[in-house]
Amino acid sequence: MSETLRRRAVLAGIGTYLPEKIVSNAEMAERVETSDDWIVERTGIRQRHFAGPHETCAFMGAAAARGALAMAGVAAEDVGAIILATSTPDQAFPATAVHVQAAIGAKKAFGFDIAAACSGFIYALGLANSMIQAGQADNILVIGSEVYSRILNFADRGTCVLFGDGAGAVLLSARDVPESGPGILSTHLHSDGTLADMLYVDGAVGQPDKPGHLVMNGREVFRHAVTLLASAVNEALAFNNLTSKDIDWLVPHQANRRIIDGVGRKLGMPPERVVVTVDQHANTSAASIPLALAQAMSDGRIKPGQLILLEALGGGLTWGSALLRL
Ligand code: COA
Repeated sequence: MSETLRRRAVLAGIGTYLPEKIVSNAEMAERVETSDDWIVERTGIRQRHFAGPHETCAFMGAAAARGALAMAGVAAEDVGAIILATSTPDQAFPATAVHVQAAIGAKKAFGFDIAAACSGFIYALGLANSMIQAGQADNILVIGSEVYSRILNFADRGTCVLFGDGAGAVLLSARDVPESGPGILSTHLHSDGTLADMLYVDGAVGQPDKPGHLVMNGREVFRHAVTLLASAVNEALAFNNLTSKDIDWLVPHQANRRIIDGVGRKLGMPPERVVVTVDQHANTSAASIPLALAQAMSDGRIKPGQLILLEALGGGLTWGSALLRL
């Protein structure tokens, strides 16, 4: 008897872009009163990439998207939608996604941006998955692209050392697969706007008198992060009738080594099954998960058929999780 097939959003390709310029902790210490030791001990970060003038949100997003399409062997004309998660768009409008559309020649796609800060990639993945389930598109580019160096307050040592620039993209393709086959199995999204003042940008087009810098109460974010992330991960496990032992890899949002370790410990995930790139990229917000996933896939750690759990938390507060089989 043939197995029943179901339509799933399968990760068909992944691509990344990192700005050419790498800035070490020692170089940050020339700009603000800090030290390599302080940054490494509190965050695990050793370096970050900062974009040059030509490395815009759209430029980096398009480069990552091209990589995802090349890996999938899918032509840009066959992309149905582009969802780009960013807190640092090139313009208030049009959406950075349509600039990516033009750059890669995805003529038949529609594109839009979403703002969910560091949870943006999980949110975009959730949206794309629902759109594929609904039959609205068969190939969707999900992109996280961020140029946080443009919104950092380089007079605030408590925040400017924590973030970096970069982009990551995945191509999700609709496929009819058996129950045990690849694809997104679930996404869970949350936000709590009563916690908005914990992490925000103090300005926008609607508030032209404000500088538009990132502001954060690091201690409060830290306090909420481990609990909320662990709850989002447990929600994904319970929904899929799994335990953390069933998960091959945890690929967390790369904000801070101590948060990543805290969530891993709470779940009983051994560090060997948790992907960490925060040391090399710092916090690249919506780009951090695809950057981490791509690295662990390309170095052979993450293999086809494995179960991957993604989680993120960011300004909003927003948070969520996604479970997929490669
Ligand atoms: N270098 C040296 N000292 C620094 C510093 C830096 N870059 N940044 C802050 N400090 C100092 C503070 O001024 C403070 O000094 P004081 O005691 O003389 O006032 C001291 O270090 C402790 O500051 P505090 O903010 O309490 O440190 P912390 O232990 O909470 O660590 C963070 C700060 C930001 C590393 C930590 O709160 C954190 O990781 N929060 C989560 C942030 C995050 O990941 N956000 C993104 C989520 S998407």
